[in-house]
Amino acid sequence: MIGDEKILFSGMQATGNLTLGNYLGALKNWVSLADEYTTFYCVVDEHSITVRQDPAELRKRARNLLMLYIAAGIDPEKNCIYYQSHVSGHAELAWILNCFTYMGELQRMTQFKDKSAKHADNINAGLFTYPVLMAADILLYQADVVPVGKDQQQHLEITRDIAQRFNSIYGDVFTIPEGYYGKAGARIMSLQDPDKKMSKSDENTNGSIYLMDDPDTIMRKFKRAVTDSVGSIAYNEEQAGIRNLIDIYCACTDKTPEEVVREFDGKGYGEFKPAVGEAVVSRLKPLQDEFHRLEKEKGYIDSIIKNNAEKASYYSNKTLRKVQKKIGFPERIR
Ligand code: TRP
Repeated sequence: MIGDEKILFSGMQATGNLTLGNYLGALKNWVSLADEYTTFYCVVDEHSITVRQDPAELRKRARNLLMLYIAAGIDPEKNCIYYQSHVSGHAELAWILNCFTYMGELQRMTQFKDKSAKHADNINAGLFTYPVLMAADILLYQADVVPVGKDQQQHLEITRDIAQRFNSIYGDVFTIPEGYYGKAGARIMSLQDPDKKMSKSDENTNGSIYLMDDPDTIMRKFKRAVTDSVGSIAYNEEQAGIRNLIDIYCACTDKTPEEVVREFDGKGYGEFKPAVGEAVVSRLKPLQDEFHRLEKEKGYIDSIIKNNAEKASYYSNKTLRKVQKKIGFPERIR
């Protein structure tokens, strides 16, 4: 706890362009949680290099992601928005925690199994110890809560296991974090395959709405969205495409599925699809405008980057020094 508030930590990778799914499922929640907690929102660029990256591209995406956090409504003066690579404690604590994590535990991680199948030519040790770096991220700030998607639940569990193991040897060093999985229903599916989650790494770009898509692109993608031959707007399992469109419409307009079904009673898909497109366009507009404004505020963004890296370093160093002392590293001479 810092002051009276509990601590929240979360991070996103700067690979691929953020989608509407990332926004409605994660970023939007982060904005509302910011009032309640002392927050650290990290751009986890060190995690990104577990798969090969183009340097210029990585640098640009990392900055864009940081600006998107701000454009989405997270106040960077009150919330610590920063780059993982600017705070050396992440890598330092990860090394230490590596020595408290078992090969067998890491071998069980489903994300490691999936990613090594996908990048069979580059199964590097970083890909294997990815969850340990994530544990270091979280434990460095003594985080109480960690909002993540279901796909990260296993990583959060190993974080708790590592922390508990460490604490059982050295005393109460780490806060044991809880996952925060948000509300159900915020899971947005691909517009081209409603059985698959909307993903920033999807090769079929028509399936995903990117946060920076212009209005014409958004409208076109919605008009092409895969539906069914039933022809009526109902919220059920069989009409997965329409259900997804209803979910998106609800998330953008704060309506309930029942209200939407009533609103479009007797109307066809030809009318519903563009309505969803328009709701998304107007929901994203303020964020896009703000992003474009921030792109021009280079000095301001640079100052945020610098100040927040200092703030994050201050808090993370407190934990790191304590850990180093507990495990018996020699004291620093001042
Ligand atoms: N692994 C997370 C993901 O891909 C990103 C991440 C890295 C993270 N470190 C974190 C999320 C710490 C929460 C807390 O989604």
